[in-house]
Amino acid sequence: MLKEYTEKLLFLKRFIGAPTRVGSITPSSRFLARAMLSPVDWSAARAIAELGAGTGVFTRRINRRIAPGCRLFVFEIDPVMRTKLETECPGPEYHPDAALLDDVVRSGGCGDLDYILSSLPFAVFPAELRSRILDAVRSAIAPTGTFIAFQYSQQMRRELEARFEEVRISFVLRNIPPAFVYRCTKPRR
Ligand SMILES: C[S@@+](CC[C@H](N)C(=O)[O-])C[C@H]1O[C@@H](n2cnc3c(N)ncnc32)[C@H](O)[C@@H]1O
Repeated sequence: MLKEYTEKLLFLKRFIGAPTRVGSITPSSRFLARAMLSPVDWSAARAIAELGAGTGVFTRRINRRIAPGCRLFVFEIDPVMRTKLETECPGPEYHPDAALLDDVVRSGGCGDLDYILSSLPFAVFPAELRSRILDAVRSAIAPTGTFIAFQYSQQMRRELEARFEEVRISFVLRNIPPAFVYRCTKPRR
C-alpha cells in the first residue's frame, strides 16, 4: 500500500516536471494492465519490448510472465523512473529513448519482436517524433507480431492503420482517465 502510494507520488512529480512527456497524472490501473497484456501468448513470445514503462505497472507483470530465454527490452526516457525500476525489477534490458527501438534491438543481436507494448502519449507528441517511433515499431516487429498501445482517445487510428493492416480498438473504463487499447497486427512492409 505504502509502495503504491510512493509510486503514485513519484509519477505525479515527474508529470508536473514534464507533462507532455509523461502524459498522465497517475500510473495505469490493473484493469488497463490486464487489457494490455491479455493478447500476449507468453509461452510463444521470444522477444518483447515495452515503450514508456513509467513506474513499472506493466513491466513487473511482463517480467513475471515471460518464459525463460525471452528477451525483454524496456524503454523509459525519464531517468528517475528508469533508474528506480532498473533497481527494483532486474532482468529486462533497460534503455532510455523509444525512438531508438529498432537500432537497440538490431544492435543487441535480436531478431524481430513478437510483441511491442506501448504506453507512450503519442497524441501529445510532435508529429515528427510520433512518426519516427511508429516507423521504428513497424520496422522492429515480426510479420506475425502484435503492437499493443493504449491512448486516451481514438485519434491514433489513422496513423496506425497506415502501418498495420488490422487495428482493433477496445475500451477500458476502469482507469484514470479511461483508455482505448489498440491492438495492431499484420505490419504493412
Ligand atoms: C502515460 S505514462 C505510462 C507509464 C506506465 N507504463 C503506466 O502505464 O503507468 C508514459 C511514459 O512514457 C515515457 N516516455 C515518454 N516519451 C518517451 C520516449 N521517447 N521513450 C521512452 N519513454 C518515453 C514517460 O516518461 C512516461 O513514463
